[in-house]
Amino acid sequence: TQSQQPKLRQPIVVVLGHVDHGKTSLLDKIRSTAVAAKEAGGITQHIGASIVPADVIEKLAEPLRKLIPIKLSIPGLLFIDTPGHELFSNLRKRGGSVADFAILVVDVTKGFQNQTYESLDLLRSRKVPFLVAANKIDRIPGWTSYPDEPFIISYERQSEEAKRNLEEVIYGKIVLSLSEQGFSADLFTRIKDFTKTVAVVPVSAKTGEGIPDLLAVLAGLTQQYLKKRLQYAEGPAKGSILEVKEIPGLGTVVDAIIYDGVIKEGDTIVLNGKNGPIITTVRSLLMPAPLSDMRAKGVKFVSVPEVQAAAGVRIAASGLDDALAGSSLYVATSPDEAKEIAEKLRGEVKELIFKGDNVGVIVKADTLGTLEALLEALRRLNVPVKSADVGNVSKNDVLEASLTAKADKSLGVILAFNVKVLPEAEQEAARSGVKIFSDNIIYHLLDQYTEWRERLKE
Ligand code: GTP
Ligand code: MG
Ligand code: NA
Repeated sequence: TQSQQPKLRQPIVVVLGHVDHGKTSLLDKIRSTAVAAKEAGGITQHIGASIVPADVIEKLAEPLRKLIPIKLSIPGLLFIDTPGHELFSNLRKRGGSVADFAILVVDVTKGFQNQTYESLDLLRSRKVPFLVAANKIDRIPGWTSYPDEPFIISYERQSEEAKRNLEEVIYGKIVLSLSEQGFSADLFTRIKDFTKTVAVVPVSAKTGEGIPDLLAVLAGLTQQYLKKRLQYAEGPAKGSILEVKEIPGLGTVVDAIIYDGVIKEGDTIVLNGKNGPIITTVRSLLMPAPLSDMRAKGVKFVSVPEVQAAAGVRIAASGLDDALAGSSLYVATSPDEAKEIAEKLRGEVKELIFKGDNVGVIVKADTLGTLEALLEALRRLNVPVKSADVGNVSKNDVLEASLTAKADKSLGVILAFNVKVLPEAEQEAARSGVKIFSDNIIYHLLDQYTEWRERLKE
C-alpha cells in the first residue's frame, strides 16, 4: 500500500556543459522563467538552485504520457545550474559534488568542447550518472519545429533529410565523442539497458521540443535507479555550502543544498570557516519560491520554520563571515556532537583557504564563488593578490591599495566584481589616486585591468 512505500526526496540534478550550449535556457524553458536573458554578458557567473515540483513535470510531460504511462514517485527535481565559462571550474565542481544525477548539455551545432570534456571528467571521477541533452535541434538543417512536442513525435514528422542530419550529429559527433571517452551511448529511444548506455535526448530549449522526453527520462532514471539514495530520512540535516554572500539587513549568509534530513530554525549547525570549523545557531531559513532560481536578482525569499531535503536554502546565522563555500554542513543534536563534527570537518579545509601575498592587488567580489574564479584567473596571469574578500569596496581597501601603490603602482589597485564602491571609498580613491576597476562580467574586469597595466608599462 501507499503508506509502506518509502518517501523519496527530490533528486538533485546538476546541469553541466560548455559555455553557451544552453544550460540556463533549458531550465528557463522548464520553469517558464527568463533567467538567461537577464544575465550580464550572456553568461552564467553564479551557481543556481531551483525546485521543479512534480505537478509541473507531469504537465510538461503530458503529451508524452498519452503514449507512455509515467508515474512519478519523486516530489519533483532540484536543479543546480552551473556556469560553462572556463574560469568557473570551482562552481562546476561544487555542483557536481552535490549531484545525484547530471544533465550534460551539448550544442548539436558545436559538439563536444573544452568544458564538455571537463564536465565529463568531473562526472566520471565522482561517479555521477548522467544523460546528454543534445540541445538546439531547431538549428539542424531542414528541421521543422513542432513547439513543445515530444521528440518522438516531432522526429516522425521530419523529412528524410532532416532525420539524416539529426542522426549525423547525434552519432557522428555526440555518441562518437562519448565513446572516445569510454562511454557507450545511444539515442534514448533505442536503449534497452539504461544502466549500461548513456541516453542522448535531443531537445530545443528554444522551441521546447524534446522537453517532455527529457523530463520523462530524467524522472524515470532517477526514481528507478536511485531509489535507495533518494529515500528520505527524518534525521538532522546534511548539506553542502554552495555560496557565501553578504545580504543587506541579514549580514553574511550561506546558500546551501540540503541533501538529507531536516533543518529547523534554532538548530545548531557546523560548517567550515577560514579560521577553522564554525558552530552556530540558525537564525532564519529563507526559501525561494518554487520554480525560481535562488541566485537570480530580485528573487523573493520567504522565511520558513523548517526545510526538508532536498532543497536549496539560504541560512542566516551569526558568525558566518568566515564561512567557506564548498564546505559540508551538518545539523548537530547536542553540544558534544557539534564538537565531534567540528573535529571531522577540520581535515576538509586545506584546499579552500587563500593565503595573501605581501605585495599585490586587492580583490572584492559578490560571492566566494566569483572571488575564487577571479583569484584563479589572476594566478594564471601571475598577478599577486594581497587580500581577497566578499563584500563592497570600503575606505580601508583603498587605504591598503594606496600603500601598495607607493611600492608598485601596477599592483596598488582594487578589482571589484559585482559589488558597490562605498562613497567613502570613492572619495578616498579620488584623493589618493587609487584605481578601482569595477565590472559585473568577469572577463571584462580582467581585461580592464590587464589593458591598464600594459599602458602603464609603456
Ligand atoms: P553559460 O551558463 O554562460 O555557460 O551558458 P548556457 O549554457 O547557460 O547557455 P544560455 O542558456 O546562456 O544560452 C546561450 C545562447 O544559446 C543564448 O543566446 C540562447 O538563446 C541560445 N540557445 C539556447 N538554447 C537554444 C536552442 O535550443 N536553440 C537555439 N537556436 N538557441 C538556443
Ligand atoms: Mg547559463
Ligand atoms: Na550563456
